[in-house]
Amino acid sequence: MEVLGIDIGGTGIKGAIVDTVKGELISERFRIPTPKGAKPKDVASAVSELVTHFNWKGKVGCGFPTIISQGVAKSTGNIHKSWKETDVVQLFSQKTGLQFFVANDADVAGLAEMSFGAGKNKKGVVLVITIGTGLGSSVFINGVLVPNVELGSVPYKKYERFEYYAADSVRKKEALKYKEWGERFNKFLKFVEQTFTPSLVILGGGASKKIHKFENEITIAAPVVAAQFENNAGIIGAAMLAN
Ligand code: BGC
Repeated sequence: MEVLGIDIGGTGIKGAIVDTVKGELISERFRIPTPKGAKPKDVASAVSELVTHFNWKGKVGCGFPTIISQGVAKSTGNIHKSWKETDVVQLFSQKTGLQFFVANDADVAGLAEMSFGAGKNKKGVVLVITIGTGLGSSVFINGVLVPNVELGSVPYKKYERFEYYAADSVRKKEALKYKEWGERFNKFLKFVEQTFTPSLVILGGGASKKIHKFENEITIAAPVVAAQFENNAGIIGAAMLAN
């Protein structure tokens, strides 16, 4: 099936048409910067702009950077506070007139990797961590997703959330060298390992293509690999929601 997959992030909104059977992009990616403040109305307009760009009339799957339950945002992550309790499915459907499927962005990136990528046929506890504006996480047990596990939102020392210490946006904001940031990220991985004892950790999001720059800092026991689809995992997994 062909589905428009959209990955909404704190910095960019990316989309492409996806073949959900093969798990492949079948169009170029198109990216719009996330509107400043990331308010519902403005993000909905950006989503509509993406739909128009692709002249899309079919189903749309969307990864969204908050907890999502039955299409409703249950947290605010790194986007505007007013998203909480917003029915994201309803908002985007009304704006575009199309059928939407919405789930957490890290969960859908994980779905793509577990079905077609680095986690294919992997049993046991597999974690997918997306490194971007925030730190997203998804947990799979024998291939089955446990939705909305928010490891980046757990407090760490003086930080309200671990992601305020170790996300890629923090590396950029504080102009940290990869070694320095990698040490921070490794602390996050150690916490993750202590909590789940995963058999595999897959790194997605924008930073996944830079893994060679910080892999020396990673000291956890479990193998840590880059997402096969790198930053496209979120788009592919989003489209898979419509299957
Ligand atoms: C949110 C998560 C999201 C992650 C990556 C965090 O701020 O709490 O739900 O998956 O950012 O976008």
